[in-house]
Amino acid sequence: MTARINDAVDPGLVPQRTLKGGDKIPCIGMGTFGSDRFSGEDIAAAVKGAIEVGYRLFDCASVYGNEHLIGEVLEEAMKKGIKREELIITSKVWNDMHGKGDVLRSCAQSLKDLRLDYIDIYFVHWPFRNFHPKGAPPDYHNKDAKPYNHEEYMETWYQMERLVQAGYVRHIGTSNMTIPKLKLLLRDARIMPSANEMELHPCFQQPELFNFCVEHGIQPIGFCPIGSPTRPDRDKTPDDYVDIEDPVVVKIAKAHNVHPAVICLKWAVQRGQIPIPFSIYRHEYVSNIRCTIEDPLTDEEMKELEGVDKNCRLIKGQVFLWDGAKGWEDLWDVDGVIPG
Ligand SMILES: NC(=O)c1ccc[n+]([C@@H]2O[C@H](COP(=O)([O-])OP(=O)(O)OC[C@H]3O[C@@H](n4cnc5c(N)ncnc54)[C@H](OP(=O)(O)O)[C@@H]3O)[C@@H](O)[C@H]2O)c1
Repeated sequence: MTARINDAVDPGLVPQRTLKGGDKIPCIGMGTFGSDRFSGEDIAAAVKGAIEVGYRLFDCASVYGNEHLIGEVLEEAMKKGIKREELIITSKVWNDMHGKGDVLRSCAQSLKDLRLDYIDIYFVHWPFRNFHPKGAPPDYHNKDAKPYNHEEYMETWYQMERLVQAGYVRHIGTSNMTIPKLKLLLRDARIMPSANEMELHPCFQQPELFNFCVEHGIQPIGFCPIGSPTRPDRDKTPDDYVDIEDPVVVKIAKAHNVHPAVICLKWAVQRGQIPIPFSIYRHEYVSNIRCTIEDPLTDEEMKELEGVDKNCRLIKGQVFLWDGAKGWEDLWDVDGVIPG
């Protein structure tokens, strides 16, 4: 069952989390990556609808190619009375803009496209300079790709810090990181990350990384919170689990009379990460925000959902691998060591 159209949620009722320094952020946001399937126009229309129904957090990125369209929507919303400080807008520097000066240029472009004076959280999208063209096939390989290089990462991070110092960015964050890489960053950073965007859904709970972030005051932001059923083909393998078909998720969904997607989101919010589900369909994104203010999961259901974890990473990132890498696991330091 989904929520009725026009069933807007008062943003004041949506629970908030607190970032380093005290800034508040809603416990749920909307993703804006179209997975190479949905048009920028459709996504911008969804952002417009989402603002109407109570969303205030939007997860953007330069590589999604739609910030200029979302910017028009944000500007219009602010003209109609939404205050800038009510919105939390994130963006991310893509892998091909890590070089000296490029981070500042990339941020300037995102600010221009989003029609904003500042970005709330600016992420390093991936800890590698390796990239793939839009719509890359599953077996794409970039000959120039290299393993993680901490000196290069810090060169990028120090530019991120400059953006904070200049006031263009409120907070900086990491994405697609691991504990070994975060430990190095925390050792060398002058401005600590406020948030870490990471893949999180019932079949991929990453408890160690999640706890590491929480212990260090880094807010986990969970991407693919529903298990990304519409993700690009390059990110699909036959062994992947489907969260919304998991028997425990389905059973709890029936008990609450909601779609299994909604159970994934309730679990995420109650666990403490900030999920950023994507949908261009109004009935879906209304259900997704509404579920944060009503009919919570019981402690028992939360416990049952903890048992659903299959350590099933969906966004493996194999298109970023370098010559000589053994497999996608090399991107994720699975043995606790950064390959290099
Ligand atoms: N930092 C990173 O590297 C990174 C990586 C990936 C994603 N992200 C961010 O995370 C966001 C979310 O990830 P995602 O889009 O891959 O996956 P997701 O949010 O897990 O899944 C999105 C899909 O779930 C379905 N859905 C959403 N709400 C639903 C509902 N109430 N009922 C039924 N189905 C529902 C929709 O499919 P249907 O269209 O079939 O209904 C939608 O296309 C992205 O948009 C992006 O902003 C970040």
